[in-house]
Amino acid sequence: MQIKVDQARLSSELQRLAAISDCPEPPPAVTRIVFTETDLQARAYLQTLLEDAGLKVRVDPVGNTFARWAGSDASAPAVGTGSHTDAIPHAGMYDGTVGVLGGIEAIRGLQRAGFRPRRSIELVAFTSEEPTRFGIGCTGSRAMAGLFTEEDLARYVDADGETYDAVRKRAGFTGPVRDCLLPPGHYHAWIELHIEQGPELERAGLPIGIVTAIAAPATLRYTVHGEGGHAGAVLMARRKDALFAAAEMVGLIERVVGEVGSPDLVATVGMLQVHPGASNSIPSRVTLTLDIRDVERSHRDQALERIMSAVQAVAGRRGVRLEQETLNWDPPAKAGQEVLAAIRKACDASGKPYMELVSRAYHDSVFLAQLAPMGMVFIPCRGGVSHRPDEYSSPEQISAGVEVLALALAELAK
Ligand code: HGY
Ligand code: MN
Ligand code: MN
Repeated sequence: MQIKVDQARLSSELQRLAAISDCPEPPPAVTRIVFTETDLQARAYLQTLLEDAGLKVRVDPVGNTFARWAGSDASAPAVGTGSHTDAIPHAGMYDGTVGVLGGIEAIRGLQRAGFRPRRSIELVAFTSEEPTRFGIGCTGSRAMAGLFTEEDLARYVDADGETYDAVRKRAGFTGPVRDCLLPPGHYHAWIELHIEQGPELERAGLPIGIVTAIAAPATLRYTVHGEGGHAGAVLMARRKDALFAAAEMVGLIERVVGEVGSPDLVATVGMLQVHPGASNSIPSRVTLTLDIRDVERSHRDQALERIMSAVQAVAGRRGVRLEQETLNWDPPAKAGQEVLAAIRKACDASGKPYMELVSRAYHDSVFLAQLAPMGMVFIPCRGGVSHRPDEYSSPEQISAGVEVLALALAELAK
């Protein structure tokens, strides 16, 4: 089967979506935070594309959008594909959107080629993959897998102290989160198309990456409680400076990660808030986040255990109080053999050379892997850059990914 990707149409749809943004800079810089007015505009635009493609659309209580191309065998578990349209501040325009709009184009390409699926093919736009607003990512796919509960709706709050539950309801998404749960066997298989967000494919000069595993993220939030005071009047020996303590902890994190020595172990302190934040006032409270990942869970957890005891020791020695909150601690995900085979076959059928690699970024597919055999198709992004306005994949690179996705979906849905 020959799949013709409408490259011009897909490019213009990506541009149109990129323009729906809160970023002060113009596209390709994008900011699109979950449940904001801008997010709702993007969802409305997506809805028009899904309906134009003749798909049956439904939205669940946390805002996951499902668009189904009914197969001839309604009783057969569907084949799912999709990604996310939310974007961190000052992001690029391809992270996530390639898998959503590219997924729609893959379906349209199959329709144009006269393919008739036996298994339904269902496109999913997850309600939010990024952790920006509530500190935890993949809330939509977690809810589908039963890993985001009523308690979590009340537990996770945004910078204004508003709960996930209150914000989603104000955005128009209501209903019990248990209604998000997908029954076992809902999907026969799942594939997500995504930019690599790394340099491997470009370095190898290959158009397609087949993901074999997705690194397991864990995110913790630390709050260091010290004693504030006058920057001039308090002598050093009498201080309990929360920021000096936090700075020592951050240095320790880097050291422990180096000592564990796993090549795939990465740790990031991406957020650090200092209170009261005045140049002549001793910091009394510091909040920081730790994002730590590895493809091997044991390496990540070993590093985490060591970090947790090391930072406690720093707090004890400096006489500050340390609060630790685990925001998420997720297992890694391995791709399913049947899906890997279908993607390899699609690459061979379309004459696309590929390499197999791990995903160091996490994706909703981590949680879909708990519901069905999972796979991901990667395309190169320039310089491996992502989460930046200069993130870029060419129309040709995106089309190659869409073509492979379409053929793999057909193979799994036939
Ligand atoms: O952080 C990640 O890996 C994903 O892009 N949210
Ligand atoms: Mn991202
Ligand atoms: Mn993404």
